[in-house]
Amino acid sequence: MTTDPMTTDPMTTDPTTLPTTARIPYGGDYNPEQWPDPVWDEDHRAFDLARIDTLTVGVFVWSLTQPAEEVYDLTVLERILDRAQAEGRQVCLATGTGAVPPWLAHRYPEVCRTDFEGRRHVYGQRHNACPSSPAYRRLAAALAGRVAERFADHPAVIAWHVNNEYGGACYCDLCAAEFRIWLRERYGTLDRLNDAWNAVFWSHRFTDWAEVVPPNALSEHWRGPDHTAFQGITLDYLRFTSDNLLRTFREEKDAIRQHSDLPVTTNFMGMYRPIDYHRWAEHLDLASWDNYPPDDRSASRMALTHDLMRGLKDGQPFWLMEQTPTVTASRDVNPVKRPGVMRLWSWQAVAHGADAVLFFQMRQSRGACEKYHGAVLDHAGRTDTRSFREVAALGAELEALGDRTLGARTPARVAVLFDWDSWWALEISDGPNRNLRYQRTVIDHHRALWEAGAQVDVVPVTADLTRYDVVVAPLLHMVKGDLAERLEAVAERGGTVVTTVLSGRVDEDDNAFLADVPGPLARLLGIRVDETDAQAPEVRNPVRLVVGDDELVTGSHTVFDLVLPQGAEVVGTYGADFYAGTAAVTRNRFGRGEAWYLGTCLEQDGLDLVLRHVLARHGLVGPYADAPGVEHAVREVDGRRYEFLLHHGDVRVEVDAHADGTDLLSGRRVVRGEVIALEPTDVVVLEVG
Ligand code: GLA
Ligand code: ZN
Repeated sequence: MTTDPMTTDPMTTDPTTLPTTARIPYGGDYNPEQWPDPVWDEDHRAFDLARIDTLTVGVFVWSLTQPAEEVYDLTVLERILDRAQAEGRQVCLATGTGAVPPWLAHRYPEVCRTDFEGRRHVYGQRHNACPSSPAYRRLAAALAGRVAERFADHPAVIAWHVNNEYGGACYCDLCAAEFRIWLRERYGTLDRLNDAWNAVFWSHRFTDWAEVVPPNALSEHWRGPDHTAFQGITLDYLRFTSDNLLRTFREEKDAIRQHSDLPVTTNFMGMYRPIDYHRWAEHLDLASWDNYPPDDRSASRMALTHDLMRGLKDGQPFWLMEQTPTVTASRDVNPVKRPGVMRLWSWQAVAHGADAVLFFQMRQSRGACEKYHGAVLDHAGRTDTRSFREVAALGAELEALGDRTLGARTPARVAVLFDWDSWWALEISDGPNRNLRYQRTVIDHHRALWEAGAQVDVVPVTADLTRYDVVVAPLLHMVKGDLAERLEAVAERGGTVVTTVLSGRVDEDDNAFLADVPGPLARLLGIRVDETDAQAPEVRNPVRLVVGDDELVTGSHTVFDLVLPQGAEVVGTYGADFYAGTAAVTRNRFGRGEAWYLGTCLEQDGLDLVLRHVLARHGLVGPYADAPGVEHAVREVDGRRYEFLLHHGDVRVEVDAHADGTDLLSGRRVVRGEVIALEPTDVVVLEVG
């Protein structure tokens, strides 16, 4: 190693902040327990070459660290940690509870989940322990405590990694019992529960808590997890499942806290529907996530997901806990990352707030389902492969960058609201259109802002909105608490609010507002929706948008509100069907600001036009908005400003620098107005000034 990453005594780290590191931690999942000793030597030699200073250790070692219920054996972790320390490397140490050992399931069959169809599973796979199982909860927390007790003072350890990629659901009797307890806590009385679920519909009035059973294929569901007769109970089971898994995380975290104040995290999966990460966020010291985009055209989607993860802890930097250096293996088709792409996406993560760049994994698995999953070192352990060279080159860049960007914040004046409740409620709804997807819609809106070069925070509906000029709330289906008033306040003081079709429809219980649509948002938007039409995916209704001097005929699809302006100005009109010539998009002056309603799903060029106008009103269109494929992201810390230019396009572009600065990657001094040429996958990190 050329630098010593251990700059501080780990025990002095403030548990509410990120680990203190000398530079962006670089490395990732390391499973040397699967390899003989000589391979460990080879590993560390290669890590030196690639400037890898951080290893995530012990994620799946339960069957080694506790070979039987009565026997703990942490020697394998001790050897890995001691070696890491001797090599000058730091460790993010896992509790190892993401995959249960065979003996545990054999002795306590309750630990195996019951699935949506009601089938009790037997031992196999991972990430599938029943979160209500007393045996699982007791043994997972006990193991976390043992690991923390033993290694809390180990100088290599800088953070704790609890479990792995929490997810899924269980429908067993233990979960049913826990669900009833959760419901009693939420509702207090059966009257309140019956009211929340509108139980009088189809004769469902409950007279005893014991009558409540989990909603699945055997009970309320009629075609998979999204087709339910009672949205209320299904929505509550989603909330319960998220909370029930969270409880197991908290039990492990509490066990760690008995021994260590180091930051605790667990690796999230970005826009993962089954878990409400906003409800988890306050229980993590540090947010982290695993970035496995579905394809190589996902730049805007990754930007959104980074922004969402950064929003979990109120803008605090997060860790990129995993990404593949080369290929995945779990898909039907697994393309390699093209030259430059791993580097580009790593810098994109940093540009959006990542304070660590970590891979899954260091050495390619020998057998089982991940043997073709890419790794820093392949099966032969070569350091002269294309991908290793790229990993090493990035390591050198990150080392040279040092600690400059650590702790830096994104100066965003634009917020996108993201809400798991709205996501769930909308996608388990019968009507108006199953093809209306929450994630897709949020991606489309965020993309328009991203293409325009805006710095965007993606935040929960409970976030403080007073710091934003623009608040975009796609598919704000459920309006909870005082959100409507807080959105009104944004417009009142001169800001702009944008929301869409299917917003303002239901309350926190998923019951419709007994009022004109869009319910509590009607006053702000100055409209009333008379009807909502839905059409097959291929149907397009042309919408003519006239915004300022711009005019565009775009397409609209999926759902179509028939909007009756009640004070709002019409900026878009339908071109077809019995509502041709009527309002599709409106803008309402409200206080010193305005509120837009997009009454249908606009094609991307329509969204681009609307959202560029919105941004322009506040001077928030980015300096490189017209350079195709060029992303511009900003971070600031201690009076320093970093501007990242990331070229995701596939042709060379030239932009005029909008500020003086130094490119920290090339060392080149750039003067305002000077041309910066960007080849595909190029990255510039400009320290402005
Ligand atoms: C996930 C897991 C890892 C590994 C990778 C492979 O992110 O956390 O253990 O399975 O996927 O892509
Ligand atoms: Zn269960």
